[in-house]
Amino acid sequence: MGRKPVLHTQHTGKRCGLRKHESAAMNLSGGWLWHWRAWRSQARWAATSAQISNWLLAQDMPRQQLVLLGPSAGWMLPDAWLAQFQEIHTWDIDPLAAPLFRWRHGAALQRSGTALHLHTGDGLAQLEALTAAMPKAFFWFDNLLGQLRFNEPAINAVAHTLHSLQGQMHAVAWGSLHDRMSGPTQGGAGLPLAQPSQAGLAMESPQAQAWLQRMGAISPWLDHLTEPVLPQGTPVQFCAWPFKPGYAHWLEMGWCPAKPA
Ligand SMILES: C[S@@+](CC[C@H](N)C(=O)[O-])C[C@H]1O[C@@H](n2cnc3c(N)ncnc32)[C@H](O)[C@@H]1O
Repeated sequence: MGRKPVLHTQHTGKRCGLRKHESAAMNLSGGWLWHWRAWRSQARWAATSAQISNWLLAQDMPRQQLVLLGPSAGWMLPDAWLAQFQEIHTWDIDPLAAPLFRWRHGAALQRSGTALHLHTGDGLAQLEALTAAMPKAFFWFDNLLGQLRFNEPAINAVAHTLHSLQGQMHAVAWGSLHDRMSGPTQGGAGLPLAQPSQAGLAMESPQAQAWLQRMGAISPWLDHLTEPVLPQGTPVQFCAWPFKPGYAHWLEMGWCPAKPA
């Protein structure tokens, strides 16, 4: 007999292992608690980081300027990919992100001669200005978009923002790594290999359900509302991220070339 389908839930609940009383006015995916967890989890996350790295290195995106949106300290970003760019701009609202990014990647980027510009601030609020100022750059949302639902109580507004991003970004090359869903997993479920797919895959589809089962998902899982981020049919890779014992995230990553008018 087959397993029951994995259903989704819309409630906000816990995030990144934070308890509810800790979450109110905080940046739920940044701050010292996030960095402490990321630092401690490097071994647990290593296989996922390697899958992300292999995918990034295999892509043919433009490699002159890179604008990173929400990269934190780049805990899961590979030096080998970053070092291929001539210039990198990072934007993160977390004041700890810039010094920690330099600590983790500064030496490698100095060796490669990559100019590194670290900015603390809201990258989303400045998208229009950034894309106008750097039309040839590659814009990468580094696990930021799946977090928006935790900052904005109006789920419909988040869904609208995420859906309209394609329109905002079409003139530049851009891509995103984001959470599609997250939730509890069966103990002992191994990490599935990364899987190629296409953007826009509905959670209820047989392929998505098969992927969730391979991750050992136990229903219900939290929907991060990112299904419409990338244009339907964009080639993507799915990865499982064993965030903490008994709890995993379904990551999706993909990118689109610029489509000038
Ligand atoms: C899950 S973390 C990214 C982790 C990153 N992929 C890594 O490898 O370490 C999400 C990041 O997005 C940042 N963030 C959230 N909203 C933002 C915004 N509007 N502009 C810039 N950064 C933002 C948070 O501060 C946090 O550092």
